[in-house]
Amino acid sequence: MDISQRIEELRREIRDHDYRYYVLAEPSIDDQAYDMLMKELEALEAEHPELVSPDSPTMRVGSDISSEFPQREHAVPMLSIANTYSREEVEDFDRRTRSLLDSDDIRYTCELKIDGIALSLHYRDGVLHSAVTRGDGRVGEDVTQNVRTIRSIPLRFADSGSCEIRGEVYMELEAFSRMNEVREAQDEKAFANPRNATAGSLKLLDPKQVAARPLKYFAYWLRLEDNMPETQWDALAQLRQFGFPVNSERALCKNSDEIMNFASGMEAKRSDLPYDIDGIVIKVDSFAQFEELGATAKSPRGVVAYKFSAEQAETILEDIIFQVGRTGTVTPVAVLSPVFLAGSTISRATLHNEQEIARKDIRVGDTVVIEKGGDIIPKVVEVVVEKRVADSTPFEFITNCPVCGTELVRDESEVAVRCVNAACPAQVEKRILHFASREAMNIEGLGPSNITKIISTTGITDFASLYSLTDEQIDNIPSWKEKSRVNFKLALENSKKRSLAQFIFSLGIRHVGAGAARTLASTFRSLDKLMAANREKLEQIDDIGSTVADSILEFFNNESNREIIENLRKHGLPFEEIQPEPVNDFVFSNKSFVLTGTLPTMTRSEAADSIRARGGKVVSSVSGKTDYVLAGENPGSKFDKAQALGISIIDEEAFFRMLGN
Ligand code: IVH
Repeated sequence: MDISQRIEELRREIRDHDYRYYVLAEPSIDDQAYDMLMKELEALEAEHPELVSPDSPTMRVGSDISSEFPQREHAVPMLSIANTYSREEVEDFDRRTRSLLDSDDIRYTCELKIDGIALSLHYRDGVLHSAVTRGDGRVGEDVTQNVRTIRSIPLRFADSGSCEIRGEVYMELEAFSRMNEVREAQDEKAFANPRNATAGSLKLLDPKQVAARPLKYFAYWLRLEDNMPETQWDALAQLRQFGFPVNSERALCKNSDEIMNFASGMEAKRSDLPYDIDGIVIKVDSFAQFEELGATAKSPRGVVAYKFSAEQAETILEDIIFQVGRTGTVTPVAVLSPVFLAGSTISRATLHNEQEIARKDIRVGDTVVIEKGGDIIPKVVEVVVEKRVADSTPFEFITNCPVCGTELVRDESEVAVRCVNAACPAQVEKRILHFASREAMNIEGLGPSNITKIISTTGITDFASLYSLTDEQIDNIPSWKEKSRVNFKLALENSKKRSLAQFIFSLGIRHVGAGAARTLASTFRSLDKLMAANREKLEQIDDIGSTVADSILEFFNNESNREIIENLRKHGLPFEEIQPEPVNDFVFSNKSFVLTGTLPTMTRSEAADSIRARGGKVVSSVSGKTDYVLAGENPGSKFDKAQALGISIIDEEAFFRMLGN
């Protein structure tokens, strides 16, 4: 495989994990595995700047922005911090810090890394004025009304100036479990973990509901107009004195040995703490030194996290069951004797696929080690072979679909085993769920239980049939009140106004995620043109590789898919792109741009779009090959580098002139 293919593969994989994590809230790998994919991609892109593309997952800090709350720009960006996983990496960090500062007079404040949600608080004349989430690090969401309900956050304190405080909102484990019990008793979906529950709570639209959620806060960062302390250690004391909750576990360390002592002490204490932590944060104590170290594009150099390895537990694997996904992929799931691990009781774990079971020789009845990496579904790490019962036999994977009985297909090139019966009820339900999801047709209220109800009362077998349901059929859906019926019909009507990209995504074509759907929509601008495209045409498109092309062709060749599509056409779904076609005068043909800083009227991604629409390229780092650096306010190091290399630096006005407006 050549480098560009590997890069594409990594991007696809990371996008897929992002989708599972952020959209489905069903991550399938842990943070460390995710970080490794990201690191590999970053390294390859650094070696091959010509392959960097502005839509690569490396280009974002990770955003949690939805649309219900007003957006606020952070005065100081909320950068993420780099992760380390071993003593060696911590030692490297210490060595690098010393050499960059050219000093041995360095102290580190070490704190717990609370596994919650970062929140910035603004006070004016000592009164809480606004509370903003991290968002994409540059712009976050204003959740002030919700945050006012958190008791441990002072609404006022004795400081006369304006100041900003940052810290972590979290939920204690016990309160979290109690809340989940109540939710389950009321037939509401339980949250997977305290962190998800915290994130969900901050985004509730009704502050009264937020008040009932057991949210707490630890402050760890401070920016004052006057009398700013000189060190992080003193800043924490100051925060405490102002009346903010500050975590009491901390240490002032002189070297990596002392840091690792603190780390191991905390790792040992971890399971006794009333809240989740996922490591420690190591910060250069002196703010002057911290400033001097500066930041990379993504994170300050004066701070790193040292992440603990996942907590593990032993239990018995009682059974292996199977789940059938939207595209028919059959996934094995371990049924476990319930065991308490990292704050919750675990009775299921993912087993990934057939090869994984065979490789680890996992058998029913085995004692297994399971592990939970912070915020993910637990997984089976290994079998405790010494505890295996004498008469155990290797696990045999099923040959037929557990839901509809169709013989499963093992694709040579794939690890997955699939049920190829498109009418399999398990698939139907999940396809409708995907079709209705927020990123797709956004048919609100159509969650798993309502879909099951609709399928069982009306017998529909595809999502197009949602639009043919009669009033009588809708009236017969059990336990739906008048309001649900009206809302459902309204949501169906509104779905017809979605964009072509969202519509293409909603079809659930394998390997076509939201990003690829956008590319296809902007290339073809009509579903019919996409359906008519041959392999050659598809493979010409950036970002569409042969696997994606194959699966698009397979999807549209399928008779029943074509029927579903014709049905959707009858009901007026968005077959055409309604956005005006981008200008294509190619004034920037073969020109390469680097963007830096905040532009006065455009966002960076708007600027990037208009460069690309005119044949130009946007790359992430300045080199001798860069033609222009488009710089806004507070430009980063790219600006300095461009100056040093004598590259044309233009502002937004000059850029507009080049566009001819
Ligand atoms: S300091 C410039 N300290 O971990 C330093 N972060 O990216 C900024 N976190 O989501 C972060 N506990 O919210 C810092 N004691 C602590 C923390 C902490 C948890 C979170 C933070 C962010 C992530 C680090």
